[in-house]
Amino acid sequence: MKSILVTGGTGFIGSHTVLELLANNYQVVVMDNLRNSKIESLKRVEKLSNMHVDFHKIDLLDKPALSGLFNKYKFDGVIHFAGLKAVGESVEKPLLYYTNNITGTLNLCEVMQENQVKNLVFSSSATVYGNPDQSPLTENESLSAVNPYGQTKLTIEFILKDLQHADSDWNISLLRYFNPVGAHKSGDIGEDPHGIPNNLMPFITQVAVGKLKELSVFGNDYPTPDGTGIRDYIHVVDVAIGHIKALEKLREKPGLVTYNLGTGKGSSVLDMIQAFENANSVKIPYKFAPRRPGDAAICYADVSKAERELNWKAKYSLQEMCRDAWNWQTKNPTGFD
Ligand code: NAD
Ligand code: UD1
Repeated sequence: MKSILVTGGTGFIGSHTVLELLANNYQVVVMDNLRNSKIESLKRVEKLSNMHVDFHKIDLLDKPALSGLFNKYKFDGVIHFAGLKAVGESVEKPLLYYTNNITGTLNLCEVMQENQVKNLVFSSSATVYGNPDQSPLTENESLSAVNPYGQTKLTIEFILKDLQHADSDWNISLLRYFNPVGAHKSGDIGEDPHGIPNNLMPFITQVAVGKLKELSVFGNDYPTPDGTGIRDYIHVVDVAIGHIKALEKLREKPGLVTYNLGTGKGSSVLDMIQAFENANSVKIPYKFAPRRPGDAAICYADVSKAERELNWKAKYSLQEMCRDAWNWQTKNPTGFD
């Protein structure tokens, strides 16, 4: 399995994964509609790797264009990152999310099937565990969705399970990411959210760089040691390496497999602030604010299955995630612009 199509490959996790694929001698083609990313990320990947990557600006909803791509190349497999991911926006625009994420994935699978390309790695999310009442979460935990974004991930998981059940030639890896943060150590690629960030780490870096005044810590009355929410933050490079391991696993023709990609360690919002301050010797002004609706108190992964079956383990610490996120932000205060 050498020739890989990466959908959403100019995005945050996609760009880091393309770099790892190139380092592991894969031939990579990237497609993205650039709705939530910039082509500059791929230019940086090319510079870092000293290699060229074919890029096609294609929307997954444009099935003829997708078919054309599969006529042009002979892919061995697909890593499918492309999708919309903002929870709040998905509540406001559910039809956009269902169409983009679900119809887009159906188009991709149909074109893959027509071209006898039946190896797929899909970007799922810890969001499929809904609002969990206990952690660590194994892959066997009950599944639910608490917003339209989560519903798209859950629905796609079900679609892919049915597809593989109907045709055992398919080999599919569902990767449930926990909270990917950080950036490549070069500081040349990283997370570049539009507008005010929703997620904790990009918010912290923008406060640190002075773009935002202070961080609001959503809730200090959770049943956790310091009262703030606990999550499983994982370095984006560890997530990217998880995809290389998932591709290697697909060579064993495992059918449909599901893995959590996390560190297995929970950190609170205050832990994160402290780690960021210690790693980078900067102060993060913050205030306590009400809980954000829909947030779980505690969510972290049991990662033993991925360790056992993929021979993969996250290796970066919280301090390193904070250091690399800050390095990216200071080198690129306005992102890829
Ligand atoms: P991202 O927004 O940076 O990357 C997604 C890419 O998909 C973007 O470049 C966007 O332009 C592209 N895209 C969206 N719709 C498309 C379409 N119809 N056709 C072509 N391209 C399209 O997001 P990311 O953080 O890199 O996430 C990658 C994947 O991982 C997403 O599916 C996301 O839901 C999932 N995920 C992300 C996180 C996270 O915290 N970042 C956590 C769990 C799961
Ligand atoms: C978010 C998504 C979830 C997705 C996950 C991983 C929401 C509501 N949920 O969840 O669907 O699967 O990312 O990408 O967006 N926090 C603050 N202040 C802030 C921002 C966040 O205190 O300004 C807190 C949150 O309450 C939470 C923690 O920081 O306790 C992490 O938040 P965030 O980075 O948004 O990730 P998730 O809540 O895990």
